[in-house]
Amino acid sequence: MNSQSDPVIAADAAAQAAAHASSQAQFVDWLRSVAPYIHAFRNQTFVVAFGGELVHEGRLNALVQDIALLHAMGMQIVLVHGSRPQVEDSMRLRHLDSQFSGGIRITDAPALESAKEAAGEVRLDIEAAISQGLPNTPMAHAHISIVSGNFVTARPVGIVDGVDFQHTGIVRKIDADSIRHSLSNRKLVLLSPLGFSPTGEAFNLAMEDVAAAAAIALRADKLIFITENEGVSAADGKLLRELSFDDAQRLRESGTVDENTDFYLKHVVRACRSGVPRAYLIPSALDGSILLELFTHDGVGSMIAYENLESLREATPDDVGNIIQLIEPLETDGTLVRRDRHQLERDIDHFSVIEHDGVLFGCVALYAYPQERIGEMACLTVSPEAQGSGDGERLLKRIEQRARARGLNRIFVLTTRTEHWFLKRGFVKASVDDLPEDRRRLYNWQRKSLVLIKPL
Ligand SMILES: CC(C)(COP(=O)(O)OP(=O)(O)OC[C@H]1O[C@@H](n2cnc3c(N)ncnc32)[C@H](O)[C@@H]1OP(=O)(O)O)[C@@H](O)C(=O)NCCC(=O)NCCS
Repeated sequence: MNSQSDPVIAADAAAQAAAHASSQAQFVDWLRSVAPYIHAFRNQTFVVAFGGELVHEGRLNALVQDIALLHAMGMQIVLVHGSRPQVEDSMRLRHLDSQFSGGIRITDAPALESAKEAAGEVRLDIEAAISQGLPNTPMAHAHISIVSGNFVTARPVGIVDGVDFQHTGIVRKIDADSIRHSLSNRKLVLLSPLGFSPTGEAFNLAMEDVAAAAAIALRADKLIFITENEGVSAADGKLLRELSFDDAQRLRESGTVDENTDFYLKHVVRACRSGVPRAYLIPSALDGSILLELFTHDGVGSMIAYENLESLREATPDDVGNIIQLIEPLETDGTLVRRDRHQLERDIDHFSVIEHDGVLFGCVALYAYPQERIGEMACLTVSPEAQGSGDGERLLKRIEQRARARGLNRIFVLTTRTEHWFLKRGFVKASVDDLPEDRRRLYNWQRKSLVLIKPL
C-alpha cells in the first residue's frame, strides 16, 4: 500500500498542511499588526538607557539584537550605558572603599580611575556586541556603525551639605548637533556615564542624568530606561502601565516608591517637563522587553507621558490611509459595507478616531439627517488588538455628543453582527420604515441589516 492510499498517512499530511497554512497566516497577521508602529516610529529618536547590571548579567547580546532591529526599521538610536557594578568590581580589585552620600557616589581620584576603567570596559563590550554579524543570528547583515565621543560636558556636583563630591559630576551640556549629525548618517550613538569639563577634567556621572539630558537636548521622541524593576508600581504593588506626568510627580511626592524607581522617575519627570513626550521604565529581566513595549498596545513596563496617551479626536485628511487600513479587513469579511474611497476622503470630517501613542486604533462616523433630527452612526471599528478595553464605548459616546451638538435627538445604526453590543448600550430594535427617507431609499435589502435606534 503506498502512502497515498493509506488514510492515516493522508490525514497526517492534511493536518500538517493545515498547521503550516495556519502558522503562515499567523505570521503574516503578526507582521502586519506591527506595520503601523513601524510607520509611526520611523525616523523618530529614541534614547535607550540601561545600567551596567544588564551587561554583568549577560543580557547585552539580546538587547543589542533588538536595538539592531529598531535601527534597521529606521529609528534613530542613542544608547546610554551605566557601569555601577563594573566600578564596584574595579574598586574591589584595587582595595578601595566606595563612599556614598545621599545615594550618590563620592568620586575621589582613585575612584575616578575605576570609573574610567569600568566605562571603557562596558563601552568595548557594547561595541563588540554591535559588531557581530554571524550568519543565522539576528545580527546577520546588520553592519551597524557605532559612534562615541566627547558629547557630554560636565560640571562638578561640588560641596553639598559639607560633603565634597570631588569628581562626581552632573551634565552641563550635550553636544546635540554632533549627535544629530551622526544619527542622520545612520550611526548609533553611544554615551558613557562620563563627561568632561572645559578644563579637560573628567567627571563620573549618573547614567540616568546623561540619558535624560540627551533626550532633552535632542528633543527625542522617547526616553527608555531598561531597569532592574518591572516598571513603576503603585503603593499596593500593582504595576502601573501608564502614568501621566502629573501622576509620576504625585507618586514621587507620596514617598511610596522605592529609592531606585524614584531616581529613575526624578529624571523621567525632568525629561517630560522639558518636552520629551514619552518615557518608559521597562524590565531588563524580560527578553525582548523593548520590542514588546514598543510594538504592542499594552506594553510590558510603565509608560509616562506628558499628555494624554490615548486621544479621542476628530479625524483629519491625514487619517484617511489609517482608517482604510483599519476597516479593510472588516469590509472584506462582510462585517462592514465597503465604502467608496473617494467618498471616505470627502466625508473625513464625519469621522472621529482614537489613537494611542500616535497609532490609530478605532474610528466611527456620524451622518446627520437634520430634518428628521436623527443621525446614522456608521463604520464603528476598534482594531482587534485593542478591543475589550472600552474604546468602542468611548467612540459611541463621542458620536452621541456630536449628534446632540447638532440638535439631533436619536441615532441609528445598521448592523448584521453586532446587535447585542448595541442593545446593551441603549439601542432598541426598529424597522426600515423608521429610517429617514433618504437613507431608506439606500437600504440594501439583500444585506438584511438590523435597524437599531437609540434616543438621546
Ligand atoms: C463592536 C466593537 C466596535 C466594540 O469595540 P470594543 O472596543 O471591543 O468595545 P468595548 O470595549 O467598549 O466593549 C467590549 C464588550 O463588547 C463585547 N462585544 C464585542 N463585540 C461584540 C459583538 N459583535 N456582539 C456583542 N458583544 C460584543 C465584548 O465581548 C465586551 O463585552 P464585556 O465588556 O462584557 O467583556 C468592536 O468589537 C469591533 O470593531 N467589531 C468589529 C466591527 C463591528 O462589528 N462594528 C459594528 C458595525 S455596525
